[in-house]
Amino acid sequence: MIEAEHLRKDFKKIIKEPGLKGSFKALFRPKKEIVVAADDVSFQVPKGEILGFLGPNGAGKSTVIKMLTGILTPTSGQCRINGQIPQDNRKKYVREIGVVFGQRTQLWWDLPLRETFSVLKEIYEVEESQFRSRMAFLNEVLELDSFITSPVRTLSLGQRMRADIAASMLHNPKVLFLDEPTIGLDVVVKDHIRHAIMKINREEQTTVILTTHDINDIELLCDRIVMIDHGRNVYDGSLQKLKENYGQMREMIFETADPSLTKEKFCQQFSLKKHQLSVKQDKTRFKVRFDSTAMPVGEMLNRTLSLTRVKDISVKDADVEEIIRRLYQQGEEPHEKNS
Ligand SMILES: Nc1ncnc2c1ncn2[C@@H]1O[C@H](COP(=O)(O)OP(=O)(O)OP(=O)(O)O)[C@@H](O)[C@H]1O
Ligand SMILES: [Mg+2]
Repeated sequence: MIEAEHLRKDFKKIIKEPGLKGSFKALFRPKKEIVVAADDVSFQVPKGEILGFLGPNGAGKSTVIKMLTGILTPTSGQCRINGQIPQDNRKKYVREIGVVFGQRTQLWWDLPLRETFSVLKEIYEVEESQFRSRMAFLNEVLELDSFITSPVRTLSLGQRMRADIAASMLHNPKVLFLDEPTIGLDVVVKDHIRHAIMKINREEQTTVILTTHDINDIELLCDRIVMIDHGRNVYDGSLQKLKENYGQMREMIFETADPSLTKEKFCQQFSLKKHQLSVKQDKTRFKVRFDSTAMPVGEMLNRTLSLTRVKDISVKDADVEEIIRRLYQQGEEPHEKNS
């Protein structure tokens, strides 16, 4: 259904030297540099799947989404959505997709939300009866009622995001691109949005490509994930497999009351390999990353507490960023694979 093949996007960037002289130079003899925003990204998404599209900041996710939605033309490679090339017939294509960029609203700032939907109805030529049933569905899923008469500029971030998703869904698209739809939202609203996405996917078999930095979004929603870094694929597979392979890392942070404790002394009491244990020390503050299959969390806590007088301690799961970091590092150090 969605096919991306070796997508690449280069941007030309003009380098400006400082000062007025630099400005003139940039104007008349611009020095250009090529930025490779996406290098070589390939994946496929079957109909009805929710794909988590992940990667650290600047990895090229939004750039790929812009190519898939026809906003940008690939420098090389190609994409096809339901057999269509997005850039070929944009007018027809945009009727089949919905797009939300969480970082920026696509709604009209001064229009009350209700009017916004009426305008979109005309743009997408949605029939009156369809529009009504569609609005009823979106209203139920996203609970828009309490702010539907308010101008977009007065909406809270969570309300605005729900409105943005509703707007992208009004014409019943087969494919939905959500680029960070939960960014900056509180836990309750995040949960609300996740359930809405789930419901839309289940009830309408909408295919969803979702970009996020939040592991909970992925755990709840995504059947599969594709991860990129530096514009290239680094992982493509199920979340389960990713967790089995890489998600066993935990991070323990503690503050000791003993200024003589060193990193070396701490590590000595564990017979763990380098990829199973890494410690960073900042005076009396220690950041310990460890493999919980090699050293269970309880045992790690016990040993730490019996070694030194601890003032404060916390343990947390590896988050998406951490898994990505490890994945990327393991790419550079193949011997650590399957650790
Ligand atoms: N129009 C542009 N001109 C020049 N460089 C760009 C442009 N758009 C993106 N880039 C660069 O391409 C790289 C990838 O950017 P992109 O926005 O796709 O990353 P991302 O994975 O979406 O990151 P984030 O998680 O922060 O949203 C970055 O280094 C960015 O600075
Ligand atoms: Mg982005």
